[in-house]
This record gives sequence, structure tokens and C-alpha cells, in this order.
Amino acid sequence: MIPAAELIQRKRDGAELSAEEIVELVLAYARDEVPDYQMAAFCMAVYFKGLTPAETHALTDAMVRSGETIDLSALGRRVVDKHSTGGVGDKTSIALGPVVAACGVPFAKMSGRGLGHTGGTLDKLESIPGFRIELGSDELIRQVREVGMAIVGQTADLVPADKKLYALRDVTATVDIIPLIASSIMSKKIAGGADAIVLDVKVGDGAFMKTLDEARGLARTMVELGGLAGRRVVCELTDMDQPLGHAVGNALEISETLDTLEGSGPPDLVELVAGAAAHLLALSDLGVDEAEGRRRAVEALASGAGREAYDRWVRAQGGDPRREALPRAAVIRPVPAPAAGYVQAMATTAVGLAALHLGAGRVRKEDTVDHAVGVVCLAKRGDRVEAGEPLAEVHARDETSAAVAVEEIAACYILGDEKPEHRPIVLDVLS
Ligand code: URA
Repeated sequence: MIPAAELIQRKRDGAELSAEEIVELVLAYARDEVPDYQMAAFCMAVYFKGLTPAETHALTDAMVRSGETIDLSALGRRVVDKHSTGGVGDKTSIALGPVVAACGVPFAKMSGRGLGHTGGTLDKLESIPGFRIELGSDELIRQVREVGMAIVGQTADLVPADKKLYALRDVTATVDIIPLIASSIMSKKIAGGADAIVLDVKVGDGAFMKTLDEARGLARTMVELGGLAGRRVVCELTDMDQPLGHAVGNALEISETLDTLEGSGPPDLVELVAGAAAHLLALSDLGVDEAEGRRRAVEALASGAGREAYDRWVRAQGGDPRREALPRAAVIRPVPAPAAGYVQAMATTAVGLAALHLGAGRVRKEDTVDHAVGVVCLAKRGDRVEAGEPLAEVHARDETSAAVAVEEIAACYILGDEKPEHRPIVLDVLS
């Protein structure tokens, strides 16, 4: 292998590396033959010089090849999957899976944990008493065959290069660069085995991508990487300038998912679930178009079929699907509006951080999550509140943390006299 220092230098000076060079570097890193400090320098060189499409493809390919891949062909069906780039209050997948399964399409998803201010699907699922996130490949396939869906944690053997590289990027300021995010996400999706994938690229204050232009660049790269791996990919760009739905925090978000599956979810979440399900049904082997897919998804939400599919799925993974089984916080305190007005904007990252400080996420990797705590944002952009009316509700483990969170959440709301213009939740779709 060409010495890593030479590859770093060439990338630093703006040269294009060959696919073989990138594959060798990444696989050597995964085998611990290239040290973290050299890989960190390489990531920083990529941060400033970027990667060409061919290099990004080689990087993705190398990450997939660094571990095992899941073969879902035994199911004999086109299996679908969904991934979000991460946001605040994003429980879409947990409602979407059962809706898609209720429509007769197999759904298999590998999820991650919370990252920084963003919540993680696995942490949310673990707020369901008894829920098991670790299934072996055989168990995963059996469960998808029997109950139509599974959402599981990434096994140790799946894309180990990404696991190492992600942890390194997290502490070397090299997370937010399109080719590295795209290859990280798509390597996991490709190794996860699904044939068709809907990607939700979040845009705005609470997302990694702050502008629509950046989000489009990431979306285009991921759609292209999926296509090169023979997967059908649709990418939605969606608004993360305010939390999705009302609930932020693990058990609170599961409860809101149940509202949605029982036909009374918040409009933005319902729209995301119905829209993503429409895409997935159109990409599936059902032979329906998007309009028919949406009709079936909306019907599954209204009829209770989605809720029944949720119960079957959660029981299959050892969990108790009843709402009353979810943990509840000891202290619930309102966040009063300081004045009357319309909600103009919400500091979304700060809402996520307030939930994190309450214990809903991890400050250090080894921290344990308090599944009961979080925030319910009662007022959202465009809502009118009177002075003293609750903007939000803080769910805390004690009075001290509740008092801090009340202050933090109050500071997240920007109120004004004019009602702001309505902004749709789905900003663009690319395929
Ligand atoms: N999510 C991932 O899985 N990887 C990234 O690089 C960013 C978000």
C-alpha cells in the first residue's frame, strides 16, 4: 500500500486519488493498520478539498466492504427502508414502518442512537419496556417475514469502518462535509440490504444541513450512490427549522407516534409519514403509483391498521406496546409565554439541547438516557399565544432540572405581532 502520509499529502494538495487508493486506505484503517491521527488528517484534507464523485463512490464501497452485509433476498420481496439525517422530535420512522407494513410492504431498518442535539430512533424504541434492538440477521429476516417489519441496531460487523470513522469525525470537526456524510449514511443503507430507500434530509436550524442548497447537494450525492449500488432512492428535503410534531424526548415521542397511528397525530408528522409511505409503496413491488400509495397509507392511519401493525411489531421485539406502559417523568412544568404574540421561529437546536440537558440524550458516550424526560412544544411556528399561556411543557426528573429547562425553552421561542407565512414541511423531492 502507498504510505498513508503520501495519500494525505496528495489530497491536501487537491489531487484526485484512485478508487484503489481510497479502498486500501479505508480497509487498512478498519484493520487498525492506519492510525487515527493519519485518518483524522485525511478527513480534514477532505473537508477542505472535497472528494470527486468517483472518490466518494470508492469511499462508500470501501466502507460497505469493511464488514458484513445483510442479504434480504430470502424474503423474495422488494424490501424498503428509510433514513433521516437527524433532527429534533423526528419520530417519523417509528410510525412509518407500521404503516408500510400494514400496506403489505416489508420494511427493514437499521437505526442509530442520538447524536449531539438530535434524537436517535434506538433510544426512542428503548423507552418501550422490554423492547430489544439487537436481532441477528436470521432473526431479522424471520421477523420481517412474520410481522412485516423490524427496526434494529447496527450490528458490530456492519460497516465497522464507518463506526470508527464516525467516532473520529465527531471529535475532529469533520462531520459536516457532504461526501463524508453521504458515504457514511449510504454505506449503512447499502449494507442493510433494502432494495428501495426513502431518505429524509433535514434542513434548517435543528439539522446538520443549514441551507436548502447544501441539503440538495447531499441529497443528489446520496441518490447517485444508491443508484450506483443498484438501489432505488428517493430523497425528501424537509423542514427542521422547528421540532417535528410537539414531543421531544424518548417516551414522549413514542406517545406522539401512537397518537399518529391512532389518527390524531400532529399535521407535520402525519404529512411526513403519509408522504414517505407514498414514496415507499410506489418503489415497492405492489405495482401502485404514489397517489395510490398515499391513499393506502392515509387509510392505514385512519383505520387503525397501522396501530395494529405497531402492536405486532413491538411484541415481536419483546416490547409492551401499550401507551400506559411508557415511563413518565416525576415533574411536569409549564413554560409560560412572556408576552402575547405569534410564534415567529424556534431555536430548534436549543430545544434539542434542553431535552439533552434534562437527560433525554447523552453528553458523553457512556451516559445513560432517561427515557421519561423531555419537552412538549405546545405552540409551534404560526401559533398565537396570550401572555402567561403555556408555550411548552417540560417533563423532568426533579424540580432543579425542570427550572433550568423552563428557562432554556422560554429562550427558544421568538414571538412577534405578525403571523408568519405558512411553510410546508416537505421543501423538495429528488430522485
Ligand atoms: N448520520 C450518519 O450516519 N453519518 C453522518 O456522517 C451524519 C449523519
